[in-house]
Amino acid sequence: MSHPRCDQTVAWQALAGHHQAHGREIDLRALFADDPDRVRRLTMPAPGLVADLSRCHWDVATREHLMGLARECGIEARRDAMLAGDPINATEGRAVLHTALRAPKGQGPHSELVHGVLDCMLAYVDAVRTEGRFTDIVNIGIGGSDLGPQMVVPALEAFVDARVRFHFVSNVDGQDLASVLSQVKPATTLFIIASKTFTTQETMANAQAARQWFVDAGGTDIATHFVATTTHVEAAAQFGVTTTFGFWDWVGGRYSLWSAIGLPIALALGSEHFRALLAGAHAMDQHFATARLAANVPIQLGLLDVWYRNFMGYTSRCISPYHNGLRRLPAYLQQLVMESNGKCVDADGQPLPYATSEVVWGEPGTNGQHAFYQMLHQGTDVIPVEFILVKRPSFRHPEAMSPALRALFDDQHRMLLANGLAQAQALMWGKTTAEAAGEQAPTASKDLAPEVIARHRTFPGNRPSLTLLLDEVTPSTLGALVALHEHRTFVSGALWGINSFDQWGVELGKALCKELLPRLSSGDVSGLDAATASLIQQLRA
Ligand code: F6P
Repeated sequence: MSHPRCDQTVAWQALAGHHQAHGREIDLRALFADDPDRVRRLTMPAPGLVADLSRCHWDVATREHLMGLARECGIEARRDAMLAGDPINATEGRAVLHTALRAPKGQGPHSELVHGVLDCMLAYVDAVRTEGRFTDIVNIGIGGSDLGPQMVVPALEAFVDARVRFHFVSNVDGQDLASVLSQVKPATTLFIIASKTFTTQETMANAQAARQWFVDAGGTDIATHFVATTTHVEAAAQFGVTTTFGFWDWVGGRYSLWSAIGLPIALALGSEHFRALLAGAHAMDQHFATARLAANVPIQLGLLDVWYRNFMGYTSRCISPYHNGLRRLPAYLQQLVMESNGKCVDADGQPLPYATSEVVWGEPGTNGQHAFYQMLHQGTDVIPVEFILVKRPSFRHPEAMSPALRALFDDQHRMLLANGLAQAQALMWGKTTAEAAGEQAPTASKDLAPEVIARHRTFPGNRPSLTLLLDEVTPSTLGALVALHEHRTFVSGALWGINSFDQWGVELGKALCKELLPRLSSGDVSGLDAATASLIQQLRA
């Protein structure tokens, strides 16, 4: 069944008209004043979290048109096609079935395969954790073979085996690996070589160097100290790895933390918690598959992304988790969103007349407040902010904790939450020049007129945000949070009519690098553009 591209729908024209007539007038303060029920209407529960979308720049009519767009573009049918295993990644002729990785046994496509590897991997995890011989586990992988585990392990610190240190090496810059090697001993270290293709230059280079270090440092028994997670089991065997946990080409790299790529997560958390992570994601899959459009949180967020990007003209969104464990979430989401939806042709290869992926970026609160929030509040661009607030902290407290120390940590958690709440308030309400003029500004220069100072201290306000509220960051709620973002990315990609599951844009640089590598040794710059030739000469000088 073919569905129209978003710009060929009646709803798209309606959205354009709606934006032209009202877009510039959307004022959150007026929307709240006019509709006392706005928070209730736009607060949506989903597994593991509640989404408060009341401070987004949209009104009732915007949402109606957006849902019309979803219907005309056949979002539900496209979702069902993905979940059923249709080959929707057409440019690679592949299905897209990361959801199958978290379906309970006996449910979903490829259940036997999936649970065969999962059971086997978790049996290995149980054995390693029981034996307790490894003090350090080093995951060597990049992109989707790194960012998921690297994000999840610190996020779930409270659940992590405290006897073991987890390291993530990704960069081909030797500094990354060398710094880890200086902290570990061969006899007590497990290396995981994580690569879907087992050909990625950075990972292969780091894997070779790690193996060389292991042998040089007197390590024996490579078979015990090196394992691989890959779809290319033969290549892993050629590298000399005998224990390999496989996965399949229908698992995209950036969607792979649920597969064998999750091995470091499972080793950190144990099998029960790893299964809870999968179950949390599965609960979100069910919500995505069954909730009606108006209450389907991933669909609502995907629609919001299209509205913001194509009509409101917002070019980026800022991820602001008020939870230090989620500090790598912005980096994880960068790959998920920008590698998926950073495309300029539609599924038929036709150039797109509209914008696609927004830039995703961010830092955990409260750190971001002391870095880039100035721009969010008073800069000339409007950047929607996505707050993640967590009711209960979930970090590991120091062992000996007096009541006094406990009270201080409790205070800190309240401070954290108050900061997140305050930023969202400040973004929305702003501060008028009259309000600023009526306030004391003890640090302001006495040389300038008070009205000039007041203009500097004015906040425009009406800056959009949304809040995802979690009770606690647990394996299950984190699984749901990540799956929510996966599905949201699918929805905006499907509306844009692009293939969200290929990544041809990373190929050109890889090919050129192969060509340049020998030139750095030989100094041969013949046939190169002048800028590259000059830089090579300077680097070799
Ligand atoms: O950056 C391109 C990419 O192919 C990503 O999509 C992928 O996650 C990453 O490289 C790593 O690839 P592999 O797991 O095959 O080493």
